[in-house]
Amino acid sequence: MNNKKTTSIKRIALLTSGGDAPGMNAAIRSVVLAAHHYHIEVIGFYHGYNGLVCEEHIAMAEPLTLLKVNGIIHLGGTILKSARCQLMHEAKGLQLAADTLNDKNIDALVVIGGDGSFSGLLALQAYWSGQMIGIPGTIDNDLDGTDYTIGFATAVNTGIEAIDKIRDTADAFERIFIVELMGRHCGHITFNVGIACAAEQVLSFENFNANEQSSKLQQLATEITTAKKNRHSSYIIVIAENLWPGGAVELARQLHLQADIECTPCILGHIQRGGSPIAKDRILATKMGVAAVQALIDGESNIMVAEQNNAMNFITLDEAIKHKKVVSKQLIDAQQNILALTAQTQC
Ligand code: F6P
Repeated sequence: MNNKKTTSIKRIALLTSGGDAPGMNAAIRSVVLAAHHYHIEVIGFYHGYNGLVCEEHIAMAEPLTLLKVNGIIHLGGTILKSARCQLMHEAKGLQLAADTLNDKNIDALVVIGGDGSFSGLLALQAYWSGQMIGIPGTIDNDLDGTDYTIGFATAVNTGIEAIDKIRDTADAFERIFIVELMGRHCGHITFNVGIACAAEQVLSFENFNANEQSSKLQQLATEITTAKKNRHSSYIIVIAENLWPGGAVELARQLHLQADIECTPCILGHIQRGGSPIAKDRILATKMGVAAVQALIDGESNIMVAEQNNAMNFITLDEAIKHKKVVSKQLIDAQQNILALTAQTQC
């Protein structure tokens, strides 16, 4: 940290928006500590952008003191609460948000969230002239330009822990499980968890598309039958949410109908969003919070903090949301061409 102690920024607004992610509290704490260091006040707005546009939530806005962020680094969720805010898609909502920020004499707005939250920031540019910065907080890891988003590592760990437990009971009964993982429309969680759990199959947006459904079903049926013939053991398919029409439950039903294969579906769901952030997310969130405040002091705006090759960097909000970050090709190739084949062979 440099020793610049004075800045023209006097007051920052801070909110968390969209799906909460483990490590958001660590980021809140870091923004508040860094701002305090530079003698900047931080006002916390509650319930995402609703905190800027709805009377009852605007009334909750309060200064975030050092005391308020004490003892929160290890907590999942977000002390500022979160929400998705429909009004931010409308001119009326954007104007309300700008009015609130002006009324409260805010110089800069910091939003911790994902692509939907950053689209809100971009839209707000036309209504409010203060500085704006995004801190990437989403378990989906789908924001382009940053190696990782806050919450992804913890969500992957949570998925791994859950599937390791499923593996125990699956082994005991030599059962087939289909486990559905979060990630919205991206397979970062699915591929990483699948590989770390030695899943026999990984089904995600990156290796399957919906019009191949019937051939994929046939292929799965053949591979499962072969694997079960070759070795008596459990079999785990991990599948990305929003991929197979009807999800894990429907895939299990179709495998039963088509090939008389019994599978147990399991939807991990929001369990992946909760829990205490692991070290990686606490540290990433802390580094990003400090970097965000320093960037604002340096006069930056309309950017997102990004981790690139282990260093803090910045990219424009436009760039961050233009494309979904793609899953590593190496990971996909290893799963498809080496690991998946090994799962079918005789031990
Ligand atoms: O973006 C985070 C995320 O958890 C996605 O993985 C998931 O698709 C979505 O949010 C679920 O949103 P909600 O909590 O509104 O159901």
